[in-house]
Amino acid sequence: MSKDVEDKIQEAIANPRNMGEMSDADAVGTVGSPDCGDMLRMWLKFTEKDGQKVIDKASFQSFGCQTAIAVASMATEMLAGKTIDEARALSSSELSEPLGPLPPMKIHCGQMVEGALKEALEADSGEVSQKSTAPTSEKPSTLLDSFQTPAPALKKGGLKIVLEEKD
Ligand code: FES
Repeated sequence: MSKDVEDKIQEAIANPRNMGEMSDADAVGTVGSPDCGDMLRMWLKFTEKDGQKVIDKASFQSFGCQTAIAVASMATEMLAGKTIDEARALSSSELSEPLGPLPPMKIHCGQMVEGALKEALEADSGEVSQKSTAPTSEKPSTLLDSFQTPAPALKKGGLKIVLEEKD
C-alpha cells in the first residue's frame, strides 16, 4: 500500500466520522466477508429536498480492518444530500476515492462498504420516515449478533465479497 493511502487511512481512523448506531434510521444494511470475517453495517436516514428523497445522514459500525473503517467514514460523509439513485450508482472505487486507489488485497474492504450501502437502499421501503427498516427483533441488533447469523446480503444472494488473490 502506498504511503499516501496509508497516511490517509491513519488520518481517517484517528477521527472517524459518523461511527455508531443510528437509532432513528430509516434503513439499515449489513454485509460480511466470509473470507476475512470482517463485517460492516450502515444506517441511512432520509429526508426530502426539493421534492426528492435524499439521504439526510448515514452512519456505520464495523468489525473490520482500518481500510474498511476509513472508507466507511468517508462514504458516510459523501452520502449526505445524495438522492437514492445517486447513492445506488456509487461504486466501491468511488466510495474509496478520497483515499486514493486501494491495493488489490484491500479492494474488498471498499466493496464491503458498497455492499452495506446497497443493502440499506434495498431494504428501504420507499417512504420517507414512514416505515423504519431498522433492525427488528428478527434481525441481529448488533454487529456482534450479526456475526452469529449470515449477513442479509449474503443470505439473499446480494453482493458477494470476493477476496483478491495475492501475488
Ligand atoms: Fe476484510 Fe478489510 S474488510 S481486510
